[in-house]
Amino acid sequence: MASSSPFPLLFVCLFLLFLLLHQPLFSNANLHKLRSLRPDFLSQSSTPPSNETPPPPPTHYFEVTRPIKLPKTTPCSHVVLRHDFGFTYGKSPVLATYTPPSHCSSYPKFSKIVLEWRATCKGRQFDRIFGVWLGGVELLRSCTAEPRATGIVWSVEKDITRYYSLLLKNQTLAVYLGNLVDKTYTGVYHVNVTLRFYPPEENFDRHGGKREDLVPGYDSWADLVLPISRNLPLNDGLWFEIENSTDFGFKELKIPQNVYRAVLEVYVSFHENDEFWYSNFPNEYIEANNLTGTPGNGPFREVLVSLDDDLVGSIWPFTVIYTGGVNPLLWRPITGIGSFNLPSYNIEITPFLGKVLDGKTHNIGFNVTNALNVWYIDANLHLWLDRHSVKTEGELLKHASLPLVISLVSNFSGFDGKFLTSLSRSIESTGWVKSSYGNITTNAIQDFYYSNTMVIGSDGNEQIVSQSIHFNDSVCANSQSSRVHPLKSLKKFTLFLYSDNLDQGNETYLSISNVTLGFDEKNSEGSFGFGFANSNLTNLQSGQGNILVKKNLVVRGLGSTQQVYSYNGSDLCYFRNISSSNYTILYDKVESKCSKTTESRRGFGLNRLWPFHARKVSLGSGLLENSNGD
Ligand SMILES: *[C@@H]1O[C@H](CO)[C@@H](O)[C@H](O)[C@H]1NC(C)=O
Ligand SMILES: *[C@@H]1O[C@H](CO)[C@@H](O)[C@H](O)[C@H]1NC(C)=O
Ligand SMILES: *[C@@H]1O[C@H](CO)[C@@H](O)[C@H](O)[C@H]1NC(C)=O
Ligand SMILES: *[C@@H]1O[C@H](CO)[C@@H](O)[C@H](O)[C@H]1NC(C)=O
Ligand SMILES: *[C@@H]1O[C@H](CO)[C@@H](O)[C@H](O)[C@H]1NC(C)=O
Ligand SMILES: *[C@@H]1O[C@H](CO)[C@@H](O)[C@H](O)[C@H]1NC(C)=O
Ligand SMILES: *[C@@H]1O[C@H](CO)[C@@H](O)[C@H](O)[C@H]1NC(C)=O
Ligand SMILES: *[C@@H]1O[C@H](CO)[C@@H](O)[C@H](O)[C@H]1NC(C)=O
Ligand SMILES: *[C@@H]1O[C@H](CO)[C@@H](O)[C@H](O)[C@H]1NC(C)=O
Ligand SMILES: *[C@@H]1O[C@H](CO)[C@@H](O)[C@H](O)[C@H]1NC(C)=O
Ligand SMILES: *[C@@H]1O[C@H](CO)[C@@H](O)[C@H](O)[C@H]1NC(C)=O
Ligand SMILES: *[C@@H]1O[C@H](CO)[C@@H](O)[C@H](O)[C@H]1NC(C)=O
Repeated sequence: MASSSPFPLLFVCLFLLFLLLHQPLFSNANLHKLRSLRPDFLSQSSTPPSNETPPPPPTHYFEVTRPIKLPKTTPCSHVVLRHDFGFTYGKSPVLATYTPPSHCSSYPKFSKIVLEWRATCKGRQFDRIFGVWLGGVELLRSCTAEPRATGIVWSVEKDITRYYSLLLKNQTLAVYLGNLVDKTYTGVYHVNVTLRFYPPEENFDRHGGKREDLVPGYDSWADLVLPISRNLPLNDGLWFEIENSTDFGFKELKIPQNVYRAVLEVYVSFHENDEFWYSNFPNEYIEANNLTGTPGNGPFREVLVSLDDDLVGSIWPFTVIYTGGVNPLLWRPITGIGSFNLPSYNIEITPFLGKVLDGKTHNIGFNVTNALNVWYIDANLHLWLDRHSVKTEGELLKHASLPLVISLVSNFSGFDGKFLTSLSRSIESTGWVKSSYGNITTNAIQDFYYSNTMVIGSDGNEQIVSQSIHFNDSVCANSQSSRVHPLKSLKKFTLFLYSDNLDQGNETYLSISNVTLGFDEKNSEGSFGFGFANSNLTNLQSGQGNILVKKNLVVRGLGSTQQVYSYNGSDLCYFRNISSSNYTILYDKVESKCSKTTESRRGFGLNRLWPFHARKVSLGSGLLENSNGD
C-alpha cells in the first residue's frame, strides 16, 4: 500500500484470519483487503532458504520510461545523501546540508540537472512511499520497491532542471521514508542520492537573443521556487495529510511584488483507505450490505487547489499502483507506471497574480473531494521575476469554475450490482500582468472528464472496474508586442481492474487479478519562428496475476506484465515493448529512432536555462571541455 501506517500487513493478516474463521467464504465483498496482500506472505511460505547454491545477484527492478535527453557534456556529480533507512517511521526526515556545486567548471551554468535515487534492499519489507525535498520544495515523490530474500536494486532518474534557481543556493535536503524494521520485516533500504550537473554544449545559447520577441517566462526556468509544504522540524513527510473530504491543508505565504508568471506544481499520493480509491464502493452499497471496515465514498476523487478563496485549479490524478498493490508479483521487475516517479501536475496561476502582488500574506490550500484517510499533498510555487522592476501589477479579468456535472447510475441487489459514475468540470481564468516585459494577458483552461464503471458479481467476490480520465490543460499568453505562446497538454488516464476470489475448498482460495493501466499525454508548445515543440506519449501496461491463499498464508503466486511505451517528441523518440513473467523478462524491444514525421524540429539546446545575471566563468579544472565557446 506504499504504506503510510506501520503495520498494514498485520491488518491484512488479521482480516484474512477473521474472514476465514468467522464467515462463510467470500460472502462479503472483500476485494479491498485482498488487493492489499503484501509479498511477505510469499516469502514466508514459499521461499525456503537454500544454502547449497551461491547467492544469486540482486534482482534489478525498473520503471519503463524514456531516457532523459542529456547534453553531450561530462556531468559534475554531487552525492547529496547516503543513508540506510532502517526504523525511520514517525521520525524526523533524514536531513543533509546542500551546497551548490561551485566546484563544477561551468558553474553556475548547467543545461541539465538530474537527480538519481539508487537503492538496494534485502529481506522482507513493504512498499514505502517517500519524498525528497530541497528547501521544502519537493523534488521527487516515489515508492520503494519490495525486496526479495535474495536482494534487489533499483534506481530512479529524474530531470530536476526546472528547480535550477533552488539548486544554486544553500539548502537543507530532507528525505522522509517511513520504514519499519523488526524480526519479520527485515528490509533496510540502503540509498544514495546523487545530483548530476551537465555543463551546456557549445551551441547552447545560440538562439537566446532571437527569442526576445517571445512572451517572457516561457523560455526559461523559474527564478524562484517556493515550497507549499509543512515546515521542518517534524516527524513525518513535509506533505500535508488530507484525511477526509472536509480536511484542508494550506500554507500562508508572501510572494515578491515583481512576479510576472506563476505556476503551481502539485504532488499527490493516496494511501490506506484511498489507496485504491477508483474501486471504492458507493456508500449506499456499503450501508445496504452492512459492510464494515470497507472503504467507501465511491470511486471518484478530485484534488482542489485554492488561492485564498478562489478555486484556481484541480487535479484528477493518475491511478498510480504502488509496488505492493493489487498483486505484488505484477510489479517484479517491471514496476507500475508512475510508481517510482509519481507525476506532478502544473496549474497556471498567472491570471490570479493581480490578487497577490500586494506584499501581503496569502493562502494556498488543498482539499480532496470524497477523500478517505489519507492523501499526501504538497506543491511547489514556480515564480518568474521581473529583473527590471521591483513591482508588477495585474488584474484577474475572468474566473469561471463550472461545478461538477455528475451522473450516477446504480443498480444492485445484495452484493452484486453495477455502478456507473461520470463527471466533468471546467475551470477557466484570464488575467493580465504588466511588467517591464509588457502587459501580458494569460488565459488558462482546465477541462476534465471522468467515467467509471464498476461491476460486482459472484456474490461480491468479483469486481471489475473500468475508468478513464481526460485531463486537458491549455495556457495562452499574449501581449501587443509579444507573440502568442500557447501551451497545450492533453492527458488520458485509463484503468481496468479485474479481481476475483475463487473458493478452492479446504480453507483455500485463489485470488485472480488483471490490471491495465494507460497513461497517454500529448503536449504542444508553440513558439512562432521556432516551430512547435510537440510530444506524444502512449504508455500501456497490462498485468495478470494470481495468488493461492491457504489459511492466512499465500501458498504460491504468479505475476505477468506486458508494457508498450511509445514516445515521439521534438526532443527525442523512444519506443519499448517489454514483457515479464515470474520475475523473468520474456522479451524486450527498444527503439530510439524517430519516424520522419516526428523528426526534431527544435534543437535541444534552445532553451535558455540559466538566469540572465549568471556570470560566465572561465574553465577551472581543465578536466572538462569548456563548452561555452564564449
Ligand atoms: C552508494 O555509494 C557507495 C559508495 O560509493 C557504494 O559503496 C554503495 O554500493 C552505493 N549504494 C547504492 C545503493 O548504490
Ligand atoms: C553556503 O554554505 C557554504 C558552506 O557552508 C558557505 O561557505 C557559504 O558561504 C554559504 N553560502 C551562502 C550564500 O550562504
Ligand atoms: C476530518 O479530518 C480533520 C483532520 O484530522 C478532523 O479535524 C475533522 O474532524 C475530520 N472531519 C470529519 C467529518 O471527520
Ligand atoms: C474545497 O476547496 C474548494 C476550493 O477552495 C472549495 O470550493 C470547496 O468548498 C472545498 N470543499 C470542502 C468540502 O471544503
Ligand atoms: C443489515 O442490518 C440490519 C439491522 O441489523 C438488518 O435488518 C438487515 O437485514 C441487514 N442487511 C443485510 C443485507 O444483512
Ligand atoms: C438492474 O439489475 C438487474 C439484475 O442484474 C436487471 O435485471 C435490471 O434490468 C437492472 N435494472 C436497470 C434499471 O438497469
Ligand atoms: C493590460 O491589458 C488589459 C487587457 O488588454 C487591459 O484591460 C489593462 O487595462 C491593461 N493594463 C494596463 C496597466 O495597461
Ligand atoms: C480534450 O481534448 C481532446 C482533443 O482535443 C478532446 O477530444 C477531448 O474531448 C477533450 N476532453 C475534455 C474533457 O475537454
Ligand atoms: C485439506 O487440507 C488438509 C490439511 O491442510 C489435508 O490433509 C487434506 O488432504 C486437504 N483436503 C483436500 C480435499 O485437499
Ligand atoms: C485475465 O487475464 C487472463 C490471463 O491473461 C485471461 O485469461 C483472462 O481472460 C483475463 N480476464 C479478464 C476479465 O480480463
Ligand atoms: C500519438 O501516438 C499514437 C500511438 O503511437 C498514435 O496512434 C497517434 O496517432 C499519435 N498522435 C499524434 C498526434 O501524433
Ligand atoms: C517461477 O520461477 C521459479 C524459479 O525462479 C520456479 O520455481 C517456479 O516454478 C516458477 N513459477 C511458475 C508458476 O512458473
